[in-house]
Amino acid sequence: MEKKKEIVMSGIRPTGFLHLGNYFGAIRNYVKMQEQFECYFMVADLHSLTTHPDTKELKTNVERVLAENIACGLNPEKAALYCQSHVYETSELYLYLNMLAYKGELEKTVTFKDKVRQHPENVNAGLLTYPVLQTADIIIHKAKYVPVGKDQEQHLEMARNFANRFNHRYGEIFHEPVAYNDNNAALVKVPSLDGAGKMSKSENGMSTLFLSDEDEMIRKKVMKAKTDSGPTQPNTPKPDYIDNIFGLMQLVSAPEVIAKFEADYNNCNIRYGDLKKQLAEDMVNFISPIREKINSILPDKKYLKEVMEMGAEKANKSANATMKLVREAIGLKYY
Ligand code: TYM
Repeated sequence: MEKKKEIVMSGIRPTGFLHLGNYFGAIRNYVKMQEQFECYFMVADLHSLTTHPDTKELKTNVERVLAENIACGLNPEKAALYCQSHVYETSELYLYLNMLAYKGELEKTVTFKDKVRQHPENVNAGLLTYPVLQTADIIIHKAKYVPVGKDQEQHLEMARNFANRFNHRYGEIFHEPVAYNDNNAALVKVPSLDGAGKMSKSENGMSTLFLSDEDEMIRKKVMKAKTDSGPTQPNTPKPDYIDNIFGLMQLVSAPEVIAKFEADYNNCNIRYGDLKKQLAEDMVNFISPIREKINSILPDKKYLKEVMEMGAEKANKSANATMKLVREAIGLKYY
């Protein structure tokens, strides 16, 4: 008998154009893992409602995230690629898990505290229980590996807690899901171009490289990255903003190119203009084929609808099977 594949699950919110952080933190691993695992990858449209209550752009954004995933190499025939809201039972599991999640721990979540700071006028209960819904997304498929970037580490830790609490209270149903990067390497954080924080969909657009950026825009953004006049002592530790530029090079540039600039830095003869020009061209070479694929997939609404339907069917099959066990374990079965 064929050995059952281990299960992988992850998601991305449809709150804007996808960027290099989404690619290297998450999608790159989706593409690798689809070959080997049973994979569920979704557009987290319900999660986006916690911060984006205006749904005028929702359909366009959902289609874009699907097209962007496919353009990066995700194959909807291999992985289930679906929308969170098409799996109704996720909301049911979310409700049960909410009884196992405590207000105090939810209030301590870093992402919650950030959102409260950014938008004090919209501190809704959905935002507070965001990690509970994320747990439901993951464990409804009994997933073991969750390919995500570093910023999701705490959510995964909470998912393990909630899954464990469920198992203790009602019986062993769930695995403990773990945040995953290829080869068990450290989780990725792609830095922003302005040297502060990480690339993100919502922060300053000029410091984030989007997978849809035109070549000239990529060049413009990279050339604007902060530098200084260079080190004056050999082997000086790099300031954060310079370290970030080298970090971005690690993602797209050839090892010998990086080694040359590292040596120049350590010998105090680095020319940051040349460094950024090199990085800009390597980024253009990396991003432009993806952008072109996105642009060719996006107009095909019929295909995107088929992808969503096929994904929903696979995801619902898996969710249905888990939820039967869950209801029984809780005792919600009277005849
Ligand atoms: P979201 O939409 O913010 O980001 C999607 C994925 O991209 C990763 N990422 C990054 N990785 C490295 N460097 C960066 N600068 C960077 N920016 C974003 C994120 O870590 C993530 O993997 N809560 C999730 C969505 C979600 C989910 C789930 C994820 C909902 N349910 C279940 C996993 C499993 C989120 O907001 O991702």
